[in-house]
Amino acid sequence: MKNDWWKQSVVYQIYPKSFLDSNHDGIGDLKGIIQKLDYIKLLGVDVIWLCPVYESPQVDNGYDISDYYQISKLYGSMDDMDTLIKESKARGIKIMVDLVVNHTSDQHPWFIESRKSKDNPYRDYYIWSDQPNDLTSNFGGSAWSYDEKTKQYYLHFYSEQQPDLNWENPDMRRAIYKMMNFWIEKGIGGFRMDVIDLIGKEPDKKIKENGPKLHDYLKEMNEYTFGPANLITVGETWGATPEIGHLYTDAGRKELNMVFQFEHMNLDKQPGKHRWDLKKLDLIDLKDVLSKWQDSFSEDGWNSLFWNNHDLPRIVSRWGNDREYRELSAKMLATLLHGMKGTPFIYQGEELGMTNTNFESIDDYPDIETQNMYKDRLATGFSKEEIMQSIHMKARDNARTPMQWNSSENAGFSTIQPWMKVNTNYRKVNVEQSLVDPDSVFFHYQKLIALRKEKDILIKGRYELVDHDNTQVYAYKRIMDDQELLIVCNFYETPADLHYSEGTKEEDIGILISNYPDSPRALDHLLLRPYEAVVYEFNKR
Ligand code: GLC
Ligand code: CA
Repeated sequence: MKNDWWKQSVVYQIYPKSFLDSNHDGIGDLKGIIQKLDYIKLLGVDVIWLCPVYESPQVDNGYDISDYYQISKLYGSMDDMDTLIKESKARGIKIMVDLVVNHTSDQHPWFIESRKSKDNPYRDYYIWSDQPNDLTSNFGGSAWSYDEKTKQYYLHFYSEQQPDLNWENPDMRRAIYKMMNFWIEKGIGGFRMDVIDLIGKEPDKKIKENGPKLHDYLKEMNEYTFGPANLITVGETWGATPEIGHLYTDAGRKELNMVFQFEHMNLDKQPGKHRWDLKKLDLIDLKDVLSKWQDSFSEDGWNSLFWNNHDLPRIVSRWGNDREYRELSAKMLATLLHGMKGTPFIYQGEELGMTNTNFESIDDYPDIETQNMYKDRLATGFSKEEIMQSIHMKARDNARTPMQWNSSENAGFSTIQPWMKVNTNYRKVNVEQSLVDPDSVFFHYQKLIALRKEKDILIKGRYELVDHDNTQVYAYKRIMDDQELLIVCNFYETPADLHYSEGTKEEDIGILISNYPDSPRALDHLLLRPYEAVVYEFNKR
């Protein structure tokens, strides 16, 4: 296997709680995933990113881990995990696990020990202080909580039940590496590293992200764990710029393969404010940001490509059109992303064009982040309507509703009421329906993935933006040696023009994929229909 196999891969993300419930308790589980491996294989992906399935009190849906070596009973057993790894492998699919090591649960034995006394051997596994400063938690409120027992404050950048680990402590680091090696020996294919840009924190200096020792820790981690194993590694880095992205991903630095950067995902919020403070996306901004990341990584380092994950609303509702153009716009967004250079990630249900929710009650949004925000904003004078509007647009729970398998009750996810409400459109939007319709969003994704395997230019070709100032069409080229692709995407529901005069004859222009059956080839004056997206290939004579 080639060292950079992950450059040719496409990753499918599974949120286990909402994928498939095999034992009828309303919660998705590992056996449910195993049952659907053939479905995932049909899509054509190479890697599954599995969100946390470890022992956890589930305050933050498993991102609060109380035992890194155990599978939560909610999801099954270690035998199920071994079976999942084995059965995936038999289908040529690797399992990338979630690595949550910025913090643990407050129920982790390390923290239970740590809070017992100031001289406990585990005291320094976490961060304690006599005096809190004004650092805030990403889930609202102070990042410090007072602990009665030893009369000090501990740090938590997320909920009170997610105390931050102290990466300055070499014993703690060694314990983490040991745990990582346990999973590597089990045969996993890689790690997705949760909020990894926080591990270099220096709370006294109010440094949260991108602390001075962050990259030393990652180099050390690489050396002691996955470095020699040829795995896929992706860091979640909300605060990365392209310069910072290179520190993580330039090959010679021996840190990670790629990071999730979120600059494009922040374009529809008011600058300097929170993502709940909505703003319309400007297509030119999107071109600028994505092109910057494409251009910056044309030589060294590597990009990840994504629109969705379990923390983001559904892209078709966000920047597409989830009403009359749901399928066309879902395919357009997929084409735009999968034509770019990098490793694409697909989040469960994205391949069906699953949409945001519109539940009326805050009680139908269990996520701790949303619940906290709702209370905070009510207290500071926002109206319920305003808050619910933000939730419908941006809440993480939009992505966390059960996967829609068929039109039977609970969308075929479970025979009982699921842990979270099913999206009301499941009778129309579901897997069964997608698989009988050759024009479905699913088959468009399947084709995009297959094209990556056929056309090396999609992996290696250089990116070049076309017609920057066009406010409606996002167009770019991929270039490799004497080959060239042109990707054009009408981002809106009104028809749009693109002038692209290469003087190429129509018979020399092939269409690799399109979301209309009869896309035009007259490139000197292209007229694109609503959300039309085409990948053109120029046949060299
Ligand atoms: C990451 C996860 C998110 C979680 C947070 C704290 O951002 O993706 O779901 O709440 O880290 O672990
Ligand atoms: Ca279950």
